[in-house]
Amino acid sequence: MGSWTLDDIPWRSFDAARLDPAIVAIVKAACLVEYNGAAYAHHLCRVFADDPAFQESARRWGAEEVQHGAALSRWVALADPSFDFAAAFTRFQEGYRIDFDSTRSRRGSRAGEMIARCIVETGTSSYYTALRDAAAEPVLREICRRIAADELRHYRLFYKTLRRCLERERLGCWARLRIALGRLAESADDELAYAYYTANEDALPYDRRRYSRAYASRTFPLYRPHHVQRAVAMVLKAIGLTPNARLGRMISALAWRAMRYRLGRLAKATA
Ligand SMILES: [Fe+2]
Ligand SMILES: [Fe+2]
Repeated sequence: MGSWTLDDIPWRSFDAARLDPAIVAIVKAACLVEYNGAAYAHHLCRVFADDPAFQESARRWGAEEVQHGAALSRWVALADPSFDFAAAFTRFQEGYRIDFDSTRSRRGSRAGEMIARCIVETGTSSYYTALRDAAAEPVLREICRRIAADELRHYRLFYKTLRRCLERERLGCWARLRIALGRLAESADDELAYAYYTANEDALPYDRRRYSRAYASRTFPLYRPHHVQRAVAMVLKAIGLTPNARLGRMISALAWRAMRYRLGRLAKATA
């Protein structure tokens, strides 16, 4: 387990007057994805079947992700007592299925798997930092502060393991970039959209495009340029690129503009 428990959260400071319904909706989705962490830890243990030291780290990592889900779902229970976490999590697990029992990574290799994990931890680390900065409710801010620190530590674990894997595997920058972009697209269009749907809708059928938009239109406004800049630096590091400061800033500015452009299009589509 990590460096904190649910007892460290100041639950009594919860302030219902400072809730934002859009943030409650995305936190409901986040708690489902986080709570599924044990399934990913199981998969990593299968992929690294001959590496007991990494398996131990992966199990600890999985337990921390589950704790993130538990902390966020407890916060949601305060924010919206009508939310049925157990039912939503069952629906999420039934609908979002990947082969967690496979001994082979979907990314083609162990190094590929570590790049994908680095991308996910980049996403979560920047997401919880942005959410902490944007949220007004003090308990959520404290939960996000603790989770963001964990996610950064997770990134470091997977990056260190990636370096170790690359001593044996040959995986060029383009192959690494392809894996990173593939994982980024998956997060945006499938896992999070489906989690958002199962957490917030129980009457209508699933429509990937619709719920991907619904999720993005509530998430993108949280980000500020420095969050994007940091995420871009982490992604570039994972794919083995260390551009000079000027190029790094240019790529970050492009990513920021792409995000704002998508947000503008989302606003038009939902107007
Ligand atoms: Fe997490
Ligand atoms: Fe994490």
